[in-house]
Amino acid sequence: MSVREKAAAAVRELLGNEKSMHDWEHSVRVCKTALRLCRAENGDEDIVALAALLHDCDDYKVFGPENAAKLTNARRILDESGADGKTAAAVLEIVSNLGYSKYLSGVQKLDRNGHIVQDADMLDAMGAVGIVRTIVFNAVAGSGRFFDPEMFPRENLSRETYQSKSKNEETAVNHMFEKLLRLRGLMYTESGKREAEIRHRTMTAFLEAFFRERELDGWLDYLRRFA
Ligand code: ADP
Ligand code: NI
Repeated sequence: MSVREKAAAAVRELLGNEKSMHDWEHSVRVCKTALRLCRAENGDEDIVALAALLHDCDDYKVFGPENAAKLTNARRILDESGADGKTAAAVLEIVSNLGYSKYLSGVQKLDRNGHIVQDADMLDAMGAVGIVRTIVFNAVAGSGRFFDPEMFPRENLSRETYQSKSKNEETAVNHMFEKLLRLRGLMYTESGKREAEIRHRTMTAFLEAFFRERELDGWLDYLRRFA
């Protein structure tokens, strides 16, 4: 087994049962997308694949603050998979800098390989897959309310306001407006931008159909801002 295969098996062992949408399948999808971007962007395939596979292995919400700070699982898996020191260091540097909040607060320091993985992780929140993840997250860990026609999305979310609203009052549709329909503008790489455009249109087509079926002209107008 290659280093990558060993790491993939270890991630499956760790996240195989994780129900919080940070599951094994998310890691595999991000890895696949990241490798596709990597070929177009001339990144390092080993670093990109390992960082993508390991990026959620020490997630704060799942494994707590100590793991998140020390990257305990990622370090262990890199070690046990036999990654060389230089590759492991590059992977850990990327994993410790990934994430939407870090991006928004401007503290993200990533090189080209990191940009590829960050784009791939954001792309997995978009498109058809992103719609499904949002609905499942909303039902399992959020408010359980898909949509409220009286509650329009918030504008200009700073990091503070993004985190201030409890997920218990947020609808799945508003999560799409407040976060997912803004990701297109946050892509680092050219190939990420192209894929984001396609996935963005998948989401707006879905929302347009949803509002049209319910004859909600105010929401159809609002949606046009995101065309
Ligand atoms: P990642 O950065 O790996 O995509 P997140 O923890 O940000 O992971 O979110 C996991 C998934 O759940 C994403 O698809 C995200 O869009 C969705 N999600 C996060 N918060 C909410 C929410 N409040 N309502 C609905 N879906 C959400
Ligand atoms: Ni992720």
